[in-house]
Amino acid sequence: MPWTIAVGGKGGVGKTTISGLIIRYLLDVGKTPILAVDADANSNLNEILGVAIDKTIGSLREEVLNEIKNLPLGVFKENYLEYKIQEALVEEKGYDLLVMGRTEGPKCYCYANTILRKYMDVIASNYNYIVMDNAAGLEHLSRGTTRDVDVLFIVSDPTIRGVRTAGRIKTLIQELKLSIEKVYLLINRVKNGLDEGLLNEIKNQEIELAGTIPEDSQVLDEDVRCSPIFALPKENKVVVAVGEILKKTMEKFRC
Ligand SMILES: Nc1ncnc2c1ncn2[C@@H]1O[C@H](COP(=O)(O)OP(=O)(O)OP(=O)(O)O)[C@@H](O)[C@H]1O
Ligand SMILES: [Mg+2]
Repeated sequence: MPWTIAVGGKGGVGKTTISGLIIRYLLDVGKTPILAVDADANSNLNEILGVAIDKTIGSLREEVLNEIKNLPLGVFKENYLEYKIQEALVEEKGYDLLVMGRTEGPKCYCYANTILRKYMDVIASNYNYIVMDNAAGLEHLSRGTTRDVDVLFIVSDPTIRGVRTAGRIKTLIQELKLSIEKVYLLINRVKNGLDEGLLNEIKNQEIELAGTIPEDSQVLDEDVRCSPIFALPKENKVVVAVGEILKKTMEKFRC
């Protein structure tokens, strides 16, 4: 069973940047093979990783619906679906990337979604680690795209409102009884430490803080240039902070 890390939180808080840095950390310490999943319909994890994508799971659904009825004799449905999902995998050194793409459409894709999900689970078992970058908002959580997660990092900006939103996500997870072993809060873009008001709000929301990540102009500058996360030097304070948080978390989980 792969060890699965998911990253969530409201819009623009740094989910994709942090997902990319988590992947970079796992690669650096040789925790491979990794499956990177971009579960955001408005995907850009590939840009952060510096890889081009051709197909997404979303774009395959239409093909699957059309082709599965007319498979040539002797081609098993299982083999066909595995082949299809392999087609959407981008293979890189140490990790593969799978992009979910759009989940909605004019037709009912329930059948295609169900079978694709089943074969994604089969494929996921080939990896030791899964890192999932999720869309902002809460609605996809109820659609069951964040399943069997070991650690979910809810990212927030260093504001009371941000922490409250993180608290709401945690409550929703409990209400939906999603299979998530541990939920942590990550405060990103911290400038001068956390003030007392914020620390009190974190206590009120009852989410364990995994750590803080500093604001850093180099991260933003590289993003403006659309450079991949690997372009940041290893001494960069955001790279270091994410690495330390991951190390501590993985030691706790002994993985
Ligand atoms: N610690 C940081 N210091 C400076 N800039 C940061 C930091 N973390 C993220 N950013 C910048 O914030 C912006 C938003 O980051 P990112 O795209 O990772 O957020 P997101 O939560 O994935 O957004 P979305 O909800 O749109 O998917 C980017 O320009 C990114 O470079
Ligand atoms: Mg994002």
